[in-house]
Amino acid sequence: MKKKKNQANVTNKMTNSSLTSQSKNALIVLAHPESHSLNHSLMEATVKDLKSKGYQVKVSDLYAMNWDAFVKRSDFKNVTEVQAVSMLEASGRAYTEKALTEDVMEEQAKIEWADLIIFQFPLWWYSMPAILKGWFDRVFSNGFAYGFGFPRDDDIFSKKKALIMVTIGAEEKRFSRKDAYCSTDVLL
Ligand SMILES: Cc1cc2nc3c(=O)[nH]c(=O)nc-3n(C[C@H](O)[C@H](O)[C@H](O)COP(=O)(O)O)c2cc1C
Repeated sequence: MKKKKNQANVTNKMTNSSLTSQSKNALIVLAHPESHSLNHSLMEATVKDLKSKGYQVKVSDLYAMNWDAFVKRSDFKNVTEVQAVSMLEASGRAYTEKALTEDVMEEQAKIEWADLIIFQFPLWWYSMPAILKGWFDRVFSNGFAYGFGFPRDDDIFSKKKALIMVTIGAEEKRFSRKDAYCSTDVLL
């Protein structure tokens, strides 16, 4: 793998199958604060490449969107002030009753629209940046992404592809299963 100028390496992991199928709607979820970063360049190159292959592309640039990463009771518009809340149950009820906040519903609509979802981010402390973790926490509602009966043959993820595009700072050889860093397959 080629080293980038800033020493970052790039690694990716494909789930399901390759990009050669019929899917034509792609969502890129980008988690990086700097527009001059390697991650932004990779996002831009990916958009260009996908468009040249006939894809329609949407980008959720989480920092640019000022994405709110914290799950909280105000995420569920059908919860009253006095009610004791189980986040798990509140998430499921709000999803069923369409009482989630606009920002979450917009991201869920993008996921439904996409055949291919690409997550573009730097490895920060062995994991994804907190803003992206908060995207999963809030957007992957109970009933939408998990719950009784998941995964099902007909759940919304069953026919989608996902690609993780993660940049790293450490040397690639550190990401072996024997090293303290561990393989990205296990980390992510
Ligand atoms: C807060 C923070 C934590 C980081 N943690 C790791 C890490 O655990 N492993 C690693 O290989 N690199 C780590 N890095 C290095 C970044 O992954 C690397 O700088 C980045 O992938 C380069 O891409 P960029 O130029 O788009 O930021 C960390 C960087 C920062 C700022």
